[in-house]
Amino acid sequence: MAKQRILSGIQPTGNLHLGNYLGAIRNWVELQDQYDAFLFMADLHAITVPHDPQRLADNTYKVAATYIACGIDPEQATIFVQSHLSAHAELAWLFNCITPLNWLERMIQFKEKAVKQGENVSIGLLDYPVLQAADILLYEPDLVPVGEDQKQHLELTRDIAARLNFQYGSEDTPILKVPEPMIREAGARVMSLTDGTKKMSKSDPSEQSRIDLTDSPEVITKKIKRAKTDPERGLWFDDPARPECHNLLGLYMVLSGQTKAAVVAECQDMGWGQFKPLLAETAVQALAPIQAKFNALMGDRAYLEQILKTGQEKAAAVAYPTLAKVKDALGFSHPV
Ligand code: TYM
Repeated sequence: MAKQRILSGIQPTGNLHLGNYLGAIRNWVELQDQYDAFLFMADLHAITVPHDPQRLADNTYKVAATYIACGIDPEQATIFVQSHLSAHAELAWLFNCITPLNWLERMIQFKEKAVKQGENVSIGLLDYPVLQAADILLYEPDLVPVGEDQKQHLELTRDIAARLNFQYGSEDTPILKVPEPMIREAGARVMSLTDGTKKMSKSDPSEQSRIDLTDSPEVITKKIKRAKTDPERGLWFDDPARPECHNLLGLYMVLSGQTKAAVVAECQDMGWGQFKPLLAETAVQALAPIQAKFNALMGDRAYLEQILKTGQEKAAAVAYPTLAKVKDALGFSHPV
């Protein structure tokens, strides 16, 4: 039997952080043997807010190198660049014409990002989830493994697929497969180091709020030392009054590969002065092999280019037939 398919992507905007790793990439690594994995760099999404053209291509390669450095096997998974396949933008246009405007206006991420952009909100920022729906539905995945913050976008994707199927398909022969989100509990919501109620984010102006995957051991240790805490003694999970404590214990749990019960037993009597150096050391150890591999890959552009070329070809073989199927359903003529 053919393997089920997973698909996911990350925007090449700035450095990736622990949230991207623990909420997304780490899960892909675990799933890649069991599933046929399609993983891409969402560079078309990266220009929905003002961006630096000098850095876009380089950031795209960095994300590809990060995937592989974190353990994605390029022989097995299909790694590709969104903008290398025109099918993404084309299907997004077709979806634009069947998606009600008010579905997009209520997207939480749009509202949050629009506030930050002030007068400069582009149509692209509003339309972002429609492009994401195209990214996903082109590959007819069974599952889409993402962090918690993408849940609403995946619901919209399902709604767009269902609407297209309802309007242009029939119940027995749906045009598009409706995928399921896959959001794992551990690591799904890594929070900021400066405020345990806000998610760790690339767009937070404070570097102290996040740990980048490329941070040096000294920087990681300093950021953890300065992370916001509280005056309580003893450490425990799941206390709404102690969001930072819950977040830092959760990071320790996933980075050390231990169960929640083991972390509770180990840390319940600790104070911050004992716990923070332990967490820092664990984070440094977990990231060291990733950083070494990342640096080696970034020195071999030809190798990365080859992977992305092969990825483009494998992605095209799936994406273009899906696009053709949708265009046929909508009644387009064929060029002769
Ligand atoms: P992006 O680039 O913001 O984030 C990439 C992945 O990292 C996860 N993530 C987090 N997980 C846990 N805690 C956090 N603090 C945290 N911050 C980010 C995200 O949930 C995501 O899985 N719109 C997407 C990119 C995209 C995409 C797609 C994803 C475009 N098309 C199709 C899946 C399928 C995004 O901006 O992710």
